[in-house]
Amino acid sequence: MREALRQILLSRWSKSAVFLLCLSPLGYLGWRAYHDELTANPVEFIQHFTGDWTLRLLLVTLAVTPLRRLLNLPDLIRFRRMLGLFAFTYVCLHFLTYIGPDQAFDLGGMWKDVAKRPFITVGFLGFVLLIPLALTSTKGWIRRLGGRRWQALHRLIYVSALCGVVHYYWLVKSDHRLPLMYGAILSVLLLYRLAGSLFKSRPAVAVPAAQ
Ligand code: HEM
Repeated sequence: MREALRQILLSRWSKSAVFLLCLSPLGYLGWRAYHDELTANPVEFIQHFTGDWTLRLLLVTLAVTPLRRLLNLPDLIRFRRMLGLFAFTYVCLHFLTYIGPDQAFDLGGMWKDVAKRPFITVGFLGFVLLIPLALTSTKGWIRRLGGRRWQALHRLIYVSALCGVVHYYWLVKSDHRLPLMYGAILSVLLLYRLAGSLFKSRPAVAVPAAQ
């Protein structure tokens, strides 16, 4: 079973399949836009849709390391960079919907809003933290920074995901179940990472691989 899974993960098509999977929410959004089905408030719909997918993809990216260890499938690393870059793509679209249709590209107004509304402040921080990670996601940057420094920098993804969860929790007015569920998933992933660094006896699985 594990060998079959490994063959699938290593197959020529697996990356294209994950790429299409990550692209499918965007395709769905385009399909709804084409059919004029973006609800009565399209900007809000796109904002929520892209926000949701940013958070989901951040958590999936963070789940890669625990899953490759727990399932003994180190080849899952092949998809981590792509997943992270897709999370970044969705947050860029999320941010663009905000500064474009929402703020009418009024940068002054945007800064005031970032300073005034805590949920925007924390979301903005989550976005800014992802920028250096996206920029340094290549093999060249891993070489330039060295594995340890690169890994330390890329731990910022946990802070970014935390900002995303707090952002979501603060913006929801009544039903907090979903942001709490995302928070619980992030806590499990964080605890796994913490336990891993406290009990370092387990053999380390080969580190950063930008593919
Ligand atoms: C890591 C970064 C971010 C994540 C993970 C994230 C995630 C989310 C999520 C999950 C939602 C709610 C979706 C729903 O209700 O279904 C949301 C809404 C929203 N986000 Fe973000 N976001 C991020 C960054 C930002 C940034 C940088 C801005 C703007 C500066 C922003 C502005 C908004 C706005 C205006 C809403 C809608 C609020 C409302 O309808 O009341 N977000 N975001």
